[in-house]
Amino acid sequence: MKKILLMNGPNLNMLGVRDPAIYGTDTLATIEAEFAAYAAERGAAVDCFQSNHEGALIDRLHEAHGCYDGIVYNPGAHTHYSYALHDAVETIDVPVVEIHLSDIEAREEFRRVSVIAPACIAQVKGLGKAGYLRALDILLDGPAGKDGASEAASAPAAEGPAAGGAR
Ligand code: DQA
Repeated sequence: MKKILLMNGPNLNMLGVRDPAIYGTDTLATIEAEFAAYAAERGAAVDCFQSNHEGALIDRLHEAHGCYDGIVYNPGAHTHYSYALHDAVETIDVPVVEIHLSDIEAREEFRRVSVIAPACIAQVKGLGKAGYLRALDILLDGPAGKDGASEAASAPAAEGPAAGGAR
């Protein structure tokens, strides 16, 4: 059975309360439960981790090395500035798909850049909570997925060195 780690970064513990017009009304607990149920249907087991602390997230990525088949990761605002998390994702031998509930390219200027994406095999954005399931499909089926070309084809790193390189 494949082992998947679902990681969420800062402020995502506040889903349900935090700006529902942008992030939806579901709590993180609901999203995690739905993700785990979908993964089980697809024959994968899931561990979940959320932290508001960069160091704790780096530690969890290091611990994942050699232990998981894939990671679905919403880095929250760390996306836009944490080279330390980029380096942690790049260091481990586990493929990571970056996911964002919102379309980060259609929002404020500072959200348009992801410094973590170049270390990931794909990025999913703007699909709301369904994006987490899409990210899992990419890990299990590859970027083209069961349904062929998709929104995740916009993933900047999907065709980059990380996809064809060491991973
Ligand atoms: C987010 C987008 C980020 O810009 C923001 O800081 C978040 C959530 C998303 O899921 O859309 O915390 O990652």
